[in-house]
Amino acid sequence: MKAIVCREFGPEENLKVEEIEPPALKPGTVRIAVEAAGLNFPDLLCVRGQYQFKPPLPFVPGGEGAGIVQEIGEGVEGFSPGDRVLFTELAGAFAEQTVVTADKVVKIPDSMPFDVAAGLTIVYATSIHALRQRARLQAGETLLVLGAAGGVGLATVELGKAMGARVIAAASSPEKLALAREHGADEGIDYAREDLKARVKELTGGRGADVIYDPVGGDYSEAAFRAIAWEGRHLVIGFAAGEIPRLALNLPLLKGASIVGVFWGAFAAREPAAHAENMQMLFRWFEEGRIRPHVSARYRLEDFPAAFRDLSQRRATGKIILLPSGG
Ligand SMILES: NC(=O)c1ccc[n+]([C@@H]2O[C@H](COP(=O)([O-])OP(=O)(O)OC[C@H]3O[C@@H](n4cnc5c(N)ncnc54)[C@H](OP(=O)(O)O)[C@@H]3O)[C@@H](O)[C@H]2O)c1
Repeated sequence: MKAIVCREFGPEENLKVEEIEPPALKPGTVRIAVEAAGLNFPDLLCVRGQYQFKPPLPFVPGGEGAGIVQEIGEGVEGFSPGDRVLFTELAGAFAEQTVVTADKVVKIPDSMPFDVAAGLTIVYATSIHALRQRARLQAGETLLVLGAAGGVGLATVELGKAMGARVIAAASSPEKLALAREHGADEGIDYAREDLKARVKELTGGRGADVIYDPVGGDYSEAAFRAIAWEGRHLVIGFAAGEIPRLALNLPLLKGASIVGVFWGAFAAREPAAHAENMQMLFRWFEEGRIRPHVSARYRLEDFPAAFRDLSQRRATGKIILLPSGG
């Protein structure tokens, strides 16, 4: 089968598309013909050897995808060849076939295209977990989303609206803000040109944002936190800007506010029933048209360098999708 192979940790330019043996089916696993795979920031970090998880070399990168069940291993129940499914794994999705433990595989609605399903889990499941279980976002609250046109950011804009919040999108260009508005944002702040703290205060009549969704880090985190409302929740999602910010602890004290960590992968492993319920809610909202996952680009496996560049050079909006079987 054709796959992207990482033979040593380093820049993503070193990756190659190779012809390799398909992985072996083991008890408790499912073989999937991968129709589409989602590219995520952790895939970049993983290839560079900068992620918390370092797979044994060589490995096929790719943490999520969607396709058709081909074969089921001994002891697997609930799946049959031909089922349309999505899956998440630490690696293995950037290939024509993958083998995944059955508990990481979920059947998808007939109406959901593979390229949408492939990029759904990591961004939407992270964001729904962040908003429901971690922030306990309430209808009528104000949600500020940093990096609002990116993968997790755009998903959060839609989910915030679906949950009845007023959504303020913050991003680095007018085009990115226009996309966030198309996906439901009520207001936009261009934080490359405007003062983030001052604009959030202005847009909330001085009250501040009840919930801040922060996948970016760097200098934006403190500026946003300084505009948090009384009893606000600042969700720590990630550090796409590259720098892990430090915050003086008098700031949460003065606002009676919380800094709330979000680790979707650990949540899904520790609380599978709650994660499964979140996924079913996402499928329902997709079928009702309340979420409209945005795929901004689709690439063949051979064109992966362009796909990785979109993400690393801050050009991606919504999801970047790879098509192992050529589309
Ligand atoms: N905690 C969890 O469970 C969890 C789950 C999934 C993802 N994450 C993390 O969330 C973060 C975002 O992931 P994503 O897939 O949404 O990525 P993404 O699509 O690339 O979005 C990240 C956004 O960050 C902003 N950004 C600022 N400086 C950047 C830089 N130097 N390079 C790239 N982007 C920059 C960009 O928006 P502007 O240009 O508008 O600033 C970009 O749209 C990552 O750190 C990822 O590891 C965490």
